[in-house]
Amino acid sequence: MTHTLDILLVSRRKDVLDYLEQMLLAAGFTPARRLNSNGHVDPLHDVDALPDLIVLHLSHLWREELEAIAARSPDRRPALIVVGPANDMNVMRLAMQAGARDLIPDPLNENDLLRAIEKAHEERRRPTPVAGGRISVFMNAKGGCGATLLACNVAHVLAAKSKRRTALLDLDLQFGAAPLYLDLYPKHGIAQALENLTHLDEVALDGYFAKHASGVSVLSHGADEPLAPGTISAAGVSRLLEVTLRSHEHVVVDMPRCVDAATTAVMQRASQIVIVLQQSVTAVRDATRLMQWLRSDVGAVKDQLCVVINRYEKGAEIGIADIQRTLACGDPALVPNDFKTVSECINSGTPLLDYAGNAPITRAVMTLETRLGGSSAQVRSGVIARTFSSLMPGRTR
Ligand SMILES: Nc1ncnc2c1ncn2[C@@H]1O[C@H](COP(=O)(O)OP(=O)(O)OP(=O)(O)O)[C@@H](O)[C@H]1O
Ligand SMILES: [Mg+2]
Repeated sequence: MTHTLDILLVSRRKDVLDYLEQMLLAAGFTPARRLNSNGHVDPLHDVDALPDLIVLHLSHLWREELEAIAARSPDRRPALIVVGPANDMNVMRLAMQAGARDLIPDPLNENDLLRAIEKAHEERRRPTPVAGGRISVFMNAKGGCGATLLACNVAHVLAAKSKRRTALLDLDLQFGAAPLYLDLYPKHGIAQALENLTHLDEVALDGYFAKHASGVSVLSHGADEPLAPGTISAAGVSRLLEVTLRSHEHVVVDMPRCVDAATTAVMQRASQIVIVLQQSVTAVRDATRLMQWLRSDVGAVKDQLCVVINRYEKGAEIGIADIQRTLACGDPALVPNDFKTVSECINSGTPLLDYAGNAPITRAVMTLETRLGGSSAQVRSGVIARTFSSLMPGRTR
């Protein structure tokens, strides 16, 4: 099998170049080679078209060789594998500054080098994550405050109105029911997707998503597989997010109320963390604890945290100002109480937008969606503005 990785071998010794070239040819690569001589120390001197990868065999001039690469701006540096005195701290430090992904000890172990090259090749074949991809995590301050309803409907609006490639991950592995809110009954689940973690790519993962007509892809636990707490590791969930982001612009996570390593890993990658509460003393107390944890342990900053007061009632004893003061948060998003619409939507597996597109609760969900990076509320005001402007006298449009 031949490989498409564009590799440049650089050394000051011809015998080393011969040896490396033979090794790589036998492994299916077709490397270019460069004998550094005549006083040039920069391994990329006169190289116009940058290769994908340089394998640099260090000489006694290792300092100058590595410094020449380190001096280049990161976007003008190919991936770098260094072969040299790997236990010399100075070499190690300078190799890191030059952006080396691996430092292989000399004399060389062939397998070490081939493994490092294969890894570079594998990473190059992977598509890069969608630029600017977002992760919005929804968590209840207290059970039953409405996180699942809001996560599902925000994900639906992102896909249906804002036309974002959206995934909904239900990480409540015992009682999660997010697919039901969209009338989906997935056969496979997160556990199966993570079984073969090292081979999980976006093509494999796609097979585990249940697809809603709006375009939202939903991943949850499978139909009959409530999982034990701790089943998903922090590394597993991080990988799941990374792969999901390669093919989606926005990932909405419905997160159970649980503080552990996996939750922390998700929170640390989140663009926004949405804390859902209602106007009760217990919900506000639990939200305070949750926010403290997010600020101190997760390192969440003010802009990342979005508080939602769900089932908001204007005349309630605990008002917006009380909540803002207690939680030391910015303006909370408000979602009105509408038991009838919500119950009918949940029971029939219909999103709010499809069931009651103009209801105040749906407009509130759209405002929240827009705050989290969507555009449904902007589209709406844009349409209204255009309609009004077209009605104004003197406008021909
Ligand atoms: N804005 C609202 N207006 C009226 N009722 C609501 C509203 N939001 C949520 N509810 C009610 O609260 C219930 C719980 O909300 P949801 O279905 O989102 O579960 P959850 O809060 O995620 O629960 P859990 O903590 O078990 O995961 C809903 O089934 C619905 O009856
Ligand atoms: Mg829930």
